[in-house]
Amino acid sequence: MKIVHAFDDVRSVSDGRVGLVPTMGFLHEGHLSLIEAAKSQNETVVVSVFVNPLQFNEDSDLDEYPRDLDRDALLCETAGADVVFAPDVSHMYPSKQRATVTVGCVAEGMEGAHRPGHFAGVATVVAKLLAGVRPDNAYFGRKDAQQLAVVTTMARDLAFPTRISGLTTVRESDGLALASRNVRLDPDLRGSALKLSEALFDAADAFEAGHRAAESLVHIAMDRLVVGRDLQVDYVEVARAEDAGPIATIDTESFLALAARVGGVRLIDNVHLDPDTGIADRGNRLSGPSILYGGS
Ligand code: PAF
Repeated sequence: MKIVHAFDDVRSVSDGRVGLVPTMGFLHEGHLSLIEAAKSQNETVVVSVFVNPLQFNEDSDLDEYPRDLDRDALLCETAGADVVFAPDVSHMYPSKQRATVTVGCVAEGMEGAHRPGHFAGVATVVAKLLAGVRPDNAYFGRKDAQQLAVVTTMARDLAFPTRISGLTTVRESDGLALASRNVRLDPDLRGSALKLSEALFDAADAFEAGHRAAESLVHIAMDRLVVGRDLQVDYVEVARAEDAGPIATIDTESFLALAARVGGVRLIDNVHLDPDTGIADRGNRLSGPSILYGGS
């Protein structure tokens, strides 16, 4: 496996069909599942590791974002990646970034409303990665359901030839969605954080029992979220999977998403709702502790 820091080097070591897994590093099993999917469909798997300053709207969140390139490189190699692309900020943004990508209403609700500029930062860096790496396929987690809609819309509307795939959420054994930020939760906060997935699973049960009114699912989820000292809910909403637009009655693929601050850590999670099958995708659970906590 090669570690490279410039777009030219990624392209010169890539062969055949190329699958890109964009990440901000501090990898967990959710990322590994994307690498495995990429490995099964491409000759070259590139994992980008870049903490993108453009998508952070709080300096403290950017400063505290966990980073460990040696650890990430080892995990990528074990998972079968061929190339780790770890550019410096000065390579991705050699001068002030004047051209940015915005994706209209897909980026306006939920995360977009609570994190102004966040999705312009995501869409811009992903557009640069697609332009620079030129992958055939790119893989994203469904845990960031609105991000997936933003990236899919951006790639389609700007005619990038890359096929975008979204893969199911991977959860810790107790249900907490895997996120690199989980390492910042102490045991007390972790207990509060668990309420997020529990709230979604309550609503998922109701969906599978036949509830289709978005408002009723939101209420069911809200009932579980005790807004206390440690848990501050930003939103609980149902949106269409395709464009993250609002929906009142779930008659097309949708997701129930929520965001909350748990202590100083902001977490998001969702369940995917398919009215055709009547199934709520809650993601896959690990059977033991996550590699986030030093396990292997
Ligand atoms: O989901 C992430 O880790 C980031 O938003 C992404 C897609 C790598 C862009 O920086």
